[in-house]
Amino acid sequence: MIGLHPEGAKKPIMRAYSIASPSWDEKLDFYSIKVQDGPLTSHLQKIKEGDEVILAKKSVGTLVLDALLPGKRLYMFSTGTGIAPFASLIRDPDTYERYEQVILTHTCRQKAELSYGLNLVKGLKEDPLVGEMVDGKLLHITSLTREEYPLKGRITTLLESGQLFENAGVPKMNPQEDRVMICGSMDMINDTKAIVETFGLTEGSNSKPAEFVVEKAFVG
Ligand code: A2P
Repeated sequence: MIGLHPEGAKKPIMRAYSIASPSWDEKLDFYSIKVQDGPLTSHLQKIKEGDEVILAKKSVGTLVLDALLPGKRLYMFSTGTGIAPFASLIRDPDTYERYEQVILTHTCRQKAELSYGLNLVKGLKEDPLVGEMVDGKLLHITSLTREEYPLKGRITTLLESGQLFENAGVPKMNPQEDRVMICGSMDMINDTKAIVETFGLTEGSNSKPAEFVVEKAFVG
């Protein structure tokens, strides 16, 4: 949770955010949309160096590798700012040590929204920790729903049609090889989860690791 205590406000305004920087990093990155009259982001977008931001002591979340069984491929399905937790995980060596292939999908309405992820992935090759690990292992698939683009459609559509697997050059999703993490809006999470379940994958937790997890703390 991060928040601010705007001047004159009775109490702080707190919201659940995913930490977008890797677990080993000394600084914390957050990725957010800006809502002009949003209770928090209308203030957050104006903060300057030296301003105070409130950060909850304990971080919570369900998108953790320990809640997944070992497997061959790890899918990370994201829409909009739901890419934030994956921005962290794709910079974590543990991700590449556990899986042979990592497929990050990012679906947005418009092209400009893809920039954050595209720049991040581009910069990974120079990353001192994972630079050599990502080569040939990380596949970044982007699609748009409201503008012309080489790959068009929601992640749910691409999964149902099988176009995602064709594009990635991988077999159809199956519980023997594939592990999945999902982050986006509540509707996206629920719809994507329902499709992943039709492939035979079951939801895991820290106490009972299985084949997929969804973000429960964060709504993008
Ligand atoms: P669409 O443009 O067809 O609504 P949002 O900003 O609303 O969270 O949307 C981000 C992206 O997620 C958009 O590309 C949007 O597609 C897509 N999306 C919205 N709802 C769902 C859903 N229930 N399942 C899959 N994708 C979704």
